[in-house]
Amino acid sequence: MSAVSNINNKKVTVHTLENMTHRGEKISMLTAYDYSMAKLVDASNIDVILVGDSAANVMAGYETTLPITLEEMIYHARSVVRAVNRALVVVDMPFGTYQGNSKMALQSAIQIMKQTGAGAIKLEGGQEILESISRILSAGIPVMGHLGLTPQSINKFGTYAVRATTENEAERIVADAHALENAGCFALVLEKIPAILAKRIAQELTIPVIGIGAGKYTDGQVLVLHDMLGITQDFSPRFLRRYHSLGDEIRSAVRQYSSDVKNGTFPSESEQY
Ligand code: KIV
Repeated sequence: MSAVSNINNKKVTVHTLENMTHRGEKISMLTAYDYSMAKLVDASNIDVILVGDSAANVMAGYETTLPITLEEMIYHARSVVRAVNRALVVVDMPFGTYQGNSKMALQSAIQIMKQTGAGAIKLEGGQEILESISRILSAGIPVMGHLGLTPQSINKFGTYAVRATTENEAERIVADAHALENAGCFALVLEKIPAILAKRIAQELTIPVIGIGAGKYTDGQVLVLHDMLGITQDFSPRFLRRYHSLGDEIRSAVRQYSSDVKNGTFPSESEQY
């Protein structure tokens, strides 16, 4: 079997991802928040599209992911789902919709699934949110976990620096990872932790482990679309590979358009009726 045998138009499900990991095929995941970008991403052989709460930063310009609301996430997710034929669409549950109250967590998750048509939800945290995870799973909603740097807890951490640099924190993340798998999560995102720790977790767990800033040994990788395309340019962590400098190209095209308008070369005769 080829290492890229999942290049086809068959809809990706949580079971597809499970099978890919068992076969040793890497999973590709990117964020998207709107119809036009999601259509381009879905046509490019991406397995999972995450409607991340990074929409708070990328789409709305907030400094943290905390302010984005459930209704705003649902708006983004509906736009993405309308565009997508193949990828599994996973929606981040925003801050304040699942922590500390498992009944509210279930209601929020049901609202996302009912109103968006997405395939799964993602939430941040370990053993402290297990009750919420179990309740959501009991309604048949697939859950992706997220450990390591969890941006919704920025006010507790105080920084976006690499996590799990102490033995204690590393062991806590390993224990949390097992707890999430045992609870029934179908996959786990590990953000900004040492590669060697992510390797251990990926080896110990049977569910797909998807990394961002977690090295090359995980079962898949995720990046924020606008970062990897170079649309956002003021964020350059070591783990970010930029595949384009679209920000420069957009600025240059807009400058050219503005100049053409001002000097009267747009529209030309062939561009008018
Ligand atoms: O919101 C997001 O974009 C994320 C990814 C960084 C994994 O959670």
